[in-house]
Amino acid sequence: MKHLVRAILLGCALAGAAAADERFDYVLHCAGCHKLNGSGSTVVPALDEIGRLVALPGGREYIGRVPGVAQAPLDSERLAALLNWLIGEHGGAAPQPLYDEVEIETLRRQPLRDPVAARAALIEDQKDCKDCND
Ligand code: HEC
Repeated sequence: MKHLVRAILLGCALAGAAAADERFDYVLHCAGCHKLNGSGSTVVPALDEIGRLVALPGGREYIGRVPGVAQAPLDSERLAALLNWLIGEHGGAAPQPLYDEVEIETLRRQPLRDPVAARAALIEDQKDCKDCND
């Protein structure tokens, strides 16, 4: 029993430490533009739509290729963990399946040249799709 309690406590401590790493990476590499609470500014988008965006066809790719993500000075494993955490924080649930190192490594090799147009196309495609289902 003692071992079980110790194991659970250690598990919680490790989970907490992992989230702390991701929060740290966010503060260091993202918050300068997106703000500590993700609210963005007049020129930087808020992060409150990432849960919706990641679920759209092409949305996972968009998030992995947006320049601030693709060019972050983090290795792909840490960047994947950061995105999984961030989407959970702002979108209500982590993406399914979770991003992993291999997916992020592939996506970030092709940073978007025109992220604003890519985002607009994502939303437009979704509208078309809705029309198709009517
Ligand atoms: C130098 C400022 C800057 C930094 C640093 C930055 N971003 Fe961004 N981010 C932007 C801007 C500006 C956009 C809008 C697209 C564009 O013009 O690149 C954006 C778009 C995004 C989007 C898409 C949001 C949407 O609603 O379309 C996500 C997700 C995102 N950033 C996450 C991150 C993460 C995670 C980090 C840290 C690893 C980060 N960004 C670092 C400026 C930044």
